[in-house]
Amino acid sequence: MPELAAHVRDVPVNQIREITEAAWATPGAIVLSIGEPGFALPRHILDAGIACLDRDETNYTPNAGIPALREAFAARFREQQQVQIGAERVYVVDGAQQGLHFAMSLLLSPGDEILIPNPGYPTFAMTSRLLHAVPVQYPLYPGNDFQPHIEDIEALITPRTKVLMLNSPSNPLGAVLSGESTRQLVELAVRHDLWIISDECYEAFTFDVPHVSPARFDSEVPGEARVFTSLTLSKTYGLTGLRIGALICPPGMEQKMNNVMEAIVSCVASPSQYAALAALTGPQDYVSSAREHYRGNRDVASSVLEAKGIPFLGAQGAFYLWADVSHVSGGDVRTWVRKFLAESGVSFAPGTAFGSIGEGWIRIALCGSQQDLLDGVSRLPAKA
Ligand SMILES: Cc1ncc(COP(=O)(O)O)c(C=O)c1O
Repeated sequence: MPELAAHVRDVPVNQIREITEAAWATPGAIVLSIGEPGFALPRHILDAGIACLDRDETNYTPNAGIPALREAFAARFREQQQVQIGAERVYVVDGAQQGLHFAMSLLLSPGDEILIPNPGYPTFAMTSRLLHAVPVQYPLYPGNDFQPHIEDIEALITPRTKVLMLNSPSNPLGAVLSGESTRQLVELAVRHDLWIISDECYEAFTFDVPHVSPARFDSEVPGEARVFTSLTLSKTYGLTGLRIGALICPPGMEQKMNNVMEAIVSCVASPSQYAALAALTGPQDYVSSAREHYRGNRDVASSVLEAKGIPFLGAQGAFYLWADVSHVSGGDVRTWVRKFLAESGVSFAPGTAFGSIGEGWIRIALCGSQQDLLDGVSRLPAKA
């Protein structure tokens, strides 16, 4: 058999999937290791997808998506971020993961460096490696509440650095960048002539702090603008299986974007696009109910951790709690989560899934039922 491509050998196992698949195969296990929103979809979203199939509207759509959906994404972004973007800058993509791959494909040549957060979402490194680029991790330290230090990032910039990857609200940390930090990060990108890819998967879920997109501080001038914004409906509307999101690009890139999209997935499945249109333009109350559910879960889980003396980062957004279990993990949290699943029937994502700084930490998903969360977190060993 011929060999697989060399860069595929370097793509690591996703440790979130590793533990979650072990949990799914464990009868009765409480699964707190994956970010899958648990609530039922409103009927009008399902009906819109079904109506598309009933009409047999199953042909290719334009590469960038159906115009009404592009406009709906643009309108939502304009309203939330007070930025003047038009629908021509919105590309409908097959979920945020495809949006990230799309953006990186546009920006990274082999050997180019991309700055990614440590701890950060695992596919930032995996996807850039698949494109023969070099992920360079910038540290987010517990001592600074896992917020970035501009000087740490600046020190890592070389002539090969092309992209700064941002993710706020953060998976796995639940941390949110302030408006001021966001502005400084955009200024850093301008100083060093870098692109920014801003992963805003969890934009709908912040608790008492605003979500400020880097796009707010970007130039509007083609050739100067540098921010790509990655959005998804997977988390906001709980549409993970429909695979639908949007990549908002700087102005003046439409033709290049069409060419690259054609070569990656051509276009997104039409029923998913109509379901997404219904989600964006229909009633929004279930997004706020989801937010309140996550907030309640965060509060309940935080109280249990506090009572047990387990240190954790107070989550300001997303739907994760980042907790320090170094008192029991023995310096190998990846092995410890497997042992804990086998002995206690609960799965957490090991912090090492997100980078070396995650050693000794776990990510607790807050998006399921409150009862499961309480049962699961209560089984964690207290810190003496
Ligand atoms: C930070 C982040 N980016 C991207 C993704 C991928 O999202 P999607 O399901 O829309 O591809 C996830 C999913 O968990 C995520 O947490």
